[in-house]
Amino acid sequence: MTKLYIAGIGPGSADYVTPAARNAVKSAKITIGSKRALDLFPEANEVVPLNVKDVQEKLEMGVDMVNDGKSVCVLSTGDPGFSGVLKPIKRIIEEKGLENNINLEIIPGISSLQLCAARLEISWDEADLMTFHGRENSLEVMDILDNGRPTIALPSRSTADMAQFLLNNGVDPSRKVAICERLSYPDEKFVTSTLKEVAQSDFTYMCVMVIY
Ligand SMILES: C[S@@+](CC[C@H](N)C(=O)[O-])C[C@H]1O[C@@H](n2cnc3c(N)ncnc32)[C@H](O)[C@@H]1O
Repeated sequence: MTKLYIAGIGPGSADYVTPAARNAVKSAKITIGSKRALDLFPEANEVVPLNVKDVQEKLEMGVDMVNDGKSVCVLSTGDPGFSGVLKPIKRIIEEKGLENNINLEIIPGISSLQLCAARLEISWDEADLMTFHGRENSLEVMDILDNGRPTIALPSRSTADMAQFLLNNGVDPSRKVAICERLSYPDEKFVTSTLKEVAQSDFTYMCVMVIY
């Protein structure tokens, strides 16, 4: 039976790509991913690039190709199971009624949250993980913010927007916050600051935010 691999590629640098992800790409006839992801796999056979506007279409195409007997590997930033492509692909398989036809194999990757925790020397079994990626900021973060554990979060739009959301909901402006930007890349940056300062600063979208 042909396979649909979903491979985590890690936070971005080739140093964090696992041999298991490389083997999945080598086994697949077609590899689907963003340009940034595909660039990490020169060993890929045929490639199908995707961009933010056609993710759904390309993921559906990938599922159809597997159903037609071709093995496919879909690349997912970080880990596929944390704000990654595992969820949309499972939804597509279910909507197409192909649960019994598609042989899925998930290759975990090193999540940006894991690398953030490592950089900031946080044991992430003692932290709360949250994501607002692909959705709006939500008040559910308020339920855990004062439980004594750091919250490691993927912001919705930007770190400034998330900081402002927390300020608007009464969180102390001097609350300690850390931002890890472009993890694993040569221009990686991590800064510790306050909520108020983060609300006024300008980071790229590629950030993990920690609220202490
Ligand atoms: C679609 S989500 C993917 C998350 C991914 N599945 C993971 O486990 O890291 C994309 C978001 O992850 C975060 N992210 C991904 N790579 C990153 C990196 N190298 N440095 C900082 N944040 C990163 C950013 O918040 C970005 O907007």
